[in-house]
Amino acid sequence: MVLGIDLGTSNTVCASLSRDGSPVLIPDAYNKDLQTTPSIALIEGKKAYAGGFAENLYESLPDKQIISFFKRSFGTQDPVYFDDYNNPWFSETVASLILKKVKHDAELYLPDGFKQAVITVPAHYNDVQRKSVIEAARLADLELSAIVEEPVAAALFYGSYNKNIDEEIILIYDFGGGTFDLTLITKSGNQLNVIAKDGVNKLGGKEFDKLVHNAIEEGYEKAFKRPFPNDKLTTNRIQKIAENIKIELNDSEHPRDISKWIMVGRDAFEATFYYTNYANQANELIAKTEAAVNRCLRSLGMQLKDINKIVLIGGTSSSKLVYNFWKQKVMPQQELIYHQPLSSVAKGAALYAASFGNGSSAGSDITPIDLKSVSTYNIGLMIANDPNRQIDLLIHRNTPLPVSSKKVYKINPKQVDYIHFDLCQFWDPKEDVHQLGTIKVGPFATFGEFYLEVAVENRLNGTIGIKVKNADNGRDIKFEFIRKESNHKYDYQQQKALVDDVYLNNYI
Ligand SMILES: Nc1ncnc2c1ncn2[C@@H]1O[C@H](COP(=O)(O)OP(=O)(O)OP(=O)(O)O)[C@@H](O)[C@H]1O
Ligand SMILES: [Mg+2]
Repeated sequence: MVLGIDLGTSNTVCASLSRDGSPVLIPDAYNKDLQTTPSIALIEGKKAYAGGFAENLYESLPDKQIISFFKRSFGTQDPVYFDDYNNPWFSETVASLILKKVKHDAELYLPDGFKQAVITVPAHYNDVQRKSVIEAARLADLELSAIVEEPVAAALFYGSYNKNIDEEIILIYDFGGGTFDLTLITKSGNQLNVIAKDGVNKLGGKEFDKLVHNAIEEGYEKAFKRPFPNDKLTTNRIQKIAENIKIELNDSEHPRDISKWIMVGRDAFEATFYYTNYANQANELIAKTEAAVNRCLRSLGMQLKDINKIVLIGGTSSSKLVYNFWKQKVMPQQELIYHQPLSSVAKGAALYAASFGNGSSAGSDITPIDLKSVSTYNIGLMIANDPNRQIDLLIHRNTPLPVSSKKVYKINPKQVDYIHFDLCQFWDPKEDVHQLGTIKVGPFATFGEFYLEVAVENRLNGTIGIKVKNADNGRDIKFEFIRKESNHKYDYQQQKALVDDVYLNNYI
């Protein structure tokens, strides 16, 4: 059996294939009505709670922080939480609790168990963020057969029951709880071609919640003439209230202002949320997705009118504001499709997992998927401390994967013991250069001048591999890859011990 996991910022969804080969969601082991797991955790002493358990407990543990939105910290070296013993927990470690929880659900649900899983990642994730997700699976003892991008998984699912989309250009628009992601695809028989990708890392439902959150804070401060409290219980409660009001504002058939009594500690006040205010600010956020769509189309020399279909997925796409925004932009002949926005990523991941053919009960019925993808970013090297900050471009965005490229540098070991290169991913060198880390090469075993070759590979799963060698004699040269410095160094053994030591959800 196979397992596809959509590790979302707000919700984690898990799918497998039924006997006829169609994807089905795996429910919570102890509540069959729950088909998604909130991506939140709570840690108390040697106990940890993941998903709905954490959600149900925060009222009774008022001074505990709910650890949420940790997906936003993938790729950073900063801990997202310190437990009662002052141990740092990294995003990977917290994510592994969620993964252990859904793994347990799957083990109980699937009679024959499963061997490996596919986890999805946002299409715009860079190398370190992708490797963080792989690390979270390792901490959860979850064997991965692959990672696949969220919009690509959604496209696989969409393509699995829409056979007549060959040669069309489809935009998968994934607006979730924490990220916005998009992918342009074409399909030809069993071949799915990803032709371009883009996205915005910190743009999702959370930003819409914040609009309501701000209005609640302002209302409170106006009513009570004192600052809004920032204790943990209030923060946890208001987050939920803000999200519910946001959904109400987004969903109303007939836009209207909403008034609500809000309790903050012992203070009660009536807050009014003005629809027009909210909608104006929300449309500014949606316009940021349009900018990413345009940047993506521009990278291929295309325009919106060249797209045949737009498939809206992700919870934030459920908002009428999002739908109406795009309805106004598309031409009558272009289709705007809204279908299974919360489950299509996990279902597509299960289909992709099955294409690796590791013992699916649907077995030979599964047609292998031939996935062709392209590099998300430009990838380049910059000699560290180069005052000109000049980037040597090795791989262009939208190049078919896997791809490798190399650059040769003249080295004079009499002048330098080490050479440092910053490995960079970026869309536009003038705007958003992301330094993934530093490649430290040396000390050199020779005194004479020689040519050093740095080869960079962008693999099919979007991660990067590096090789360094002496270009004169072809011998590999040892190097160290140093991630951005942080006060708290991630240590696998320590983090693994933390995950293994806690008693999870009172049953794992
Ligand atoms: N009807 C609705 N209107 C607006 N927002 C909604 C609606 N329903 C759900 N949402 C929002 O969708 C978000 C969750 O979406 P989803 O489950 O797709 O995110 P995710 O997959 O966890 O996140 P990501 O893909 O960004 O990592 C939440 O912010 C939620 O408030
Ligand atoms: Mg999602």
